[in-house]
Amino acid sequence: MIILAIETSCDDTAIAVIRSSDKKNPRFEILSNIVSSQVKLHKKYGGVYPTLAKREHQRNLVPVLEKALKGAEMLKIFNSQFPISNFQTLEKILIREKDLFKQLKDFLKKYQKPKVDLIAVTNGPGLEPCLWIGINFAKALAFAWNLPIVPVNHIEAHILVNFVNKNLKSKCQISNFTRPNFAKQKLRRARIQSSNIKNLFPAICLIVSGGHTQLIIMRNFGKYKIIGETRDDAAGECFDKAARILGLEYPGGPAIAAAASAAKPQTTNHKPQTKLPRPMIHQKNYDFSFSGLKTAVLYDYKKQDKKTQKSQKYVQEMCKEIQQAIIDVLIKKTIKAAKDFKVKSIILGGGVTANKELRKQLEEKIKKEISDIQYLIPDIKLATDNAVMVAITGCFHKPEKIEKIKAKANLRLK
Ligand code: KG4
Ligand code: ZN
Repeated sequence: MIILAIETSCDDTAIAVIRSSDKKNPRFEILSNIVSSQVKLHKKYGGVYPTLAKREHQRNLVPVLEKALKGAEMLKIFNSQFPISNFQTLEKILIREKDLFKQLKDFLKKYQKPKVDLIAVTNGPGLEPCLWIGINFAKALAFAWNLPIVPVNHIEAHILVNFVNKNLKSKCQISNFTRPNFAKQKLRRARIQSSNIKNLFPAICLIVSGGHTQLIIMRNFGKYKIIGETRDDAAGECFDKAARILGLEYPGGPAIAAAASAAKPQTTNHKPQTKLPRPMIHQKNYDFSFSGLKTAVLYDYKKQDKKTQKSQKYVQEMCKEIQQAIIDVLIKKTIKAAKDFKVKSIILGGGVTANKELRKQLEEKIKKEISDIQYLIPDIKLATDNAVMVAITGCFHKPEKIEKIKAKANLRLK
């Protein structure tokens, strides 16, 4: 089965094509994986603006689709005309996305239906206007090519992207359209780690992204329970907001991680000036709170004179402390949940899990305290938003009636 997946829940326009064989013991081949990042656009504002993101998705979807199908060697020029009457229905589906309709119309006139069997699309959680663009685009393609659609939960997708073999060195194509050439995609094989699957559950999943920080018990595929989450800002949001205070670029996570790694190591002669709080770290629940941490960064920054605020030493040390404060809380609560629920594995997901220190320090802690459990972390290129994760998750679910598929900004795992 060939799945074409669409992801537009935030500021990445992503489309992937994968082949999955054997439903019981799926084996995946990533045929193409295109992510068009809007980072440059949002950098100016220090965060994602939903209306701008929506407009960019509209602009990007058809070029991204074209590249994804080309990468999968499925882009074939049409030799006969697409029946014109069908465009009226397409226009109705994309009534609010006029530019997208025009681009898609030209695309459909030009190219044949690819050998795709199923469309998977993120329907939540995320920014509602952005989700709708992806969903309406999926509906238009489903109509034009007569295909079923599976709606996918973005959080579940961040979890399930772990279930590909670790020998998958996926050649992801991350693009912001400023890089002109998309290298030819090599086929890569990936397989669900079937031999180990029974030994994985129950698992504790730590989902840390720009919009979410959740601890989820996974009892099997499709069986989830959220046991804790942030009461205010998400961990990624804290990285992004703290970076903005310090004058670093959006997205803040990678910027803070880079500055932190350049900070001088702590010695007896050289102690960092600032100690930030570790919010809720000693509370006996699995919840988080990061807005106070961001405020503490702001107060500390305001206390400094202009020269210090701009000094490399201050910024690097502050970044190291911010990163460590976030990591300390995430690790403490995850290990606590792992022990309390006697889990057999810890699974990471979401953009913040691209953070090398988090990956490393959690691994060290697991080895020290609960060494008999498995530790699954996503391939670093598949940690941040992409459509491969949506395609894989689509394989685990059934298609839904197209008219019933809606954007659900606050969709929750059950
Ligand atoms: O999962 P994701 O790509 O999008 C959402 O679903 O929100 O996560 C994006 C978040 C951003 O807040 C970004 O700053 C953070 O992931 N992030 C990182 C790193 N790379 C991305 N945070 C810390 N360290 C990183 N290396
Ligand atoms: Zn995400």
